[in-house]
Amino acid sequence: MKNPILTIPTAPIAGMKPGTSGLRKKVTEFQQPHYLANFVQSIFNAVRPTEGFTGQTLVLGGDGRFFNLEAAQLIIRMAAANGFARVLVGQGGILSTPAASCVIRKHQTFGGIILSASHNAGGPAGDFGIKFNAANGGPAPEHLTEAMYAASQVITEYGTVDTPDVDLHRLGTQDVVGMAVEVIDPVADYAELMGRLFDFPKLRALFASGFRLRFDAMHAVTGPYAHAIFEGLLGAPAGTVVNGTPLPDFGDHHPDPNLVHAKALYDVMMGADAPDLGAASDGDGDRNLIIGRGLFISPSDSLAMLAANAHRAPAYAQGLAGIARSMPTSGAADRVAAALGVPCFETPTGWKFFGNLLDAGKVTICGEESAGTGSDHVREKDGLWAVLLWLNILAERRQSVADIAREHWATYGRNYYTRHDYEEIDTAAAHQLMAGLRDQLPSLPGRTVAGKQVQLADDFSYLDPVDGSVSAKQGVRVVLEDGSRIVYRLSGTGTAGATLRVYIEQFEGDPARHDLPTQDALAALIAAADELARIRELTGRTEPSVIT
Ligand code: G6P
Ligand code: ZN
Repeated sequence: MKNPILTIPTAPIAGMKPGTSGLRKKVTEFQQPHYLANFVQSIFNAVRPTEGFTGQTLVLGGDGRFFNLEAAQLIIRMAAANGFARVLVGQGGILSTPAASCVIRKHQTFGGIILSASHNAGGPAGDFGIKFNAANGGPAPEHLTEAMYAASQVITEYGTVDTPDVDLHRLGTQDVVGMAVEVIDPVADYAELMGRLFDFPKLRALFASGFRLRFDAMHAVTGPYAHAIFEGLLGAPAGTVVNGTPLPDFGDHHPDPNLVHAKALYDVMMGADAPDLGAASDGDGDRNLIIGRGLFISPSDSLAMLAANAHRAPAYAQGLAGIARSMPTSGAADRVAAALGVPCFETPTGWKFFGNLLDAGKVTICGEESAGTGSDHVREKDGLWAVLLWLNILAERRQSVADIAREHWATYGRNYYTRHDYEEIDTAAAHQLMAGLRDQLPSLPGRTVAGKQVQLADDFSYLDPVDGSVSAKQGVRVVLEDGSRIVYRLSGTGTAGATLRVYIEQFEGDPARHDLPTQDALAALIAAADELARIRELTGRTEPSVIT
């Protein structure tokens, strides 16, 4: 019989450097001959143990976007050629990012490949992405993503097998050249985990009492999960989940749960007949948006409020070991950590930096300003988890979201916070702007900005307390005498030009001043942020493309 394992000669393709969250490119770039195969082989080459993949299981799934199914078939063939014993793949090639993390951990597998470009637009003209998560269920740490990039620069061949496609819609086990491909229900393991973390009987009672949730799945991966959990297990009425059918192009929308792309949900929540809680998640299900009746809760505030109330859910009744937030995320969580008497860690942007802290048991809850919140239950941020924790807290406290928020601010003070994004600006101009800021750093302390003295100005560098690794140049921060901050960094997830993010924050202790419109409260700092970095002058933009 002909040997079905093929070794295909290839050559390096430039530009395969993983960003904040894996390799993300236009679909058309991924469709080039050998492109995806080169990167997949580079992943395998970078992570292969000396004894090879014999006996190992790989988890595979994605957010269902355009090109997901073709990519899944290719990866299954390459896994077989590379010697894996088994692939666990979500039915239809579907697994949300947190569900993939859950499956990797629960079945004690070698790791997994997740096919997603998160909240970026999909479809033939949209984006595709691929990332590897290790055995702890978390995104590959930097030393591994560097190794993948290095492997992609010296690749000469990749392995695949000459076999027909696997039927990804049929549950159960199929054989690919001696490798078992198990097609699994993408929701089951995840739903079971959620049922252990939260008080489902109490949540069922909450919905039975007339509580109304509106969950916008944005035609992305959380649809099946949300239908099964909210409307199925928790008995919320049909119609609670909207846009619940995953589409390869997300219905031609950006599946990004922010106030721009989830404006329809926002409008409902500001309307006369608003439900009690509005929530949304992104393409691959790891981000969340939380809106109370008449009040948007910023991700930084949501992290702080969840941390302050987490003990009300069964999984966190023992309290928190610590909290972690990314550097640009507001300091609201720090105040909660101080009140709880637990440490608060400040990491660079990117969920992968929380992995070591979670594995070492140093933190229980983590969050980022970019709409990510999660805990030690998996090693990814988790959109539905955040909604369920909010629901559990609401069920226990029997107050509105807005009342909980106001009480929180009265107790801890309010960190007014906004992020201004300048998307798809000229890459050279963006680098010039950042270089200009870095040049000013030594002269900034002591200078007056927005009427206050600069206390600290630096380019954030992180020393991982667990493995001692250092990640430098993670964003320029200018901290004023009262703790107000302006932070600048370039996005690591875009696929066109550069995106400048400016994060602005100011603490307000006086409850009489807790109801100001955010942009007004921060107006002086916003103006100063532009002046310091010469944003208008260097980018040619008079205003940000997105304000969150
Ligand atoms: C992804 C990562 C997040 C990170 C975010 C920031 O979503 O999973 O951990 O916060 O990207 O992206 P940026 O575009 O700001 O680099
Ligand atoms: Zn995402």
